[in-house]
Amino acid sequence: MPSTDSPPGADKWVPPDARELDQLKAAAADCQGCELYQDATQTVFGRGAAHARVVFVGEQPGDVEDRQGLPFVGPAGHLLRQAVDDAGIDPATVYITNAVKHFRFELRGKRRIHQTPGPAHIAACRPWLVAEFSLLAPELVVLLGATAAKALLGPSFRVTRSRGQLMPWPAAAQHPEDFPVAQIQALATIHPSAVLRADDRDEAYRGLVDDLKVAAGALAA
Ligand code: URA
Ligand code: SF4
Repeated sequence: MPSTDSPPGADKWVPPDARELDQLKAAAADCQGCELYQDATQTVFGRGAAHARVVFVGEQPGDVEDRQGLPFVGPAGHLLRQAVDDAGIDPATVYITNAVKHFRFELRGKRRIHQTPGPAHIAACRPWLVAEFSLLAPELVVLLGATAAKALLGPSFRVTRSRGQLMPWPAAAQHPEDFPVAQIQALATIHPSAVLRADDRDEAYRGLVDDLKVAAGALAA
């Protein structure tokens, strides 16, 4: 049933004393911080290097991710891995997660059609991102698309205007106190799904790789 009440949020499910990402992942499997757990198959938590130098944040799991329980394992993930490689970022230094950890979709017949998560879902799920960051302590965060950028930089951030630029983070966030992590850098770019949807895929892909090369440069510096 649609409701205008804001969901309770994930706070209650985040173990306050977690020391490892696996503990967070296990706890997130039970999260009911918003209604998205009801129709999705499972929580899709982040994955990657525990001592990652760079954290990629996407929007939410897609259809394939929802079934497999792993982030970025579908077509967008395939493209992202290729772009990371072409930009010269070592995949062994990467952790990949999403702003929202359950798949939001609309059923049309038997097809599950992706629906963009709303501000209430992003806010409800933010405690998991905060917890991931507090254990990961990366040097750089790469925001893939508008949902991730809004989740970490505030609702007025525009990817199209500011993509490919290094910014201080969480200083640039709307509420830096939400993220009690060391000062690192952030860079926003387009979502790999936007490349897949683009009229000129080659051009869009080159743009994504060019932005990621800025990230690679920051890691090399
Ligand atoms: N798109 C995302 O934003 N995240 C995924 O995990 C897959 C597709
Ligand atoms: Fe919890 Fe996030 Fe899933 Fe909502 S989307 S139920 S807050 S894990």
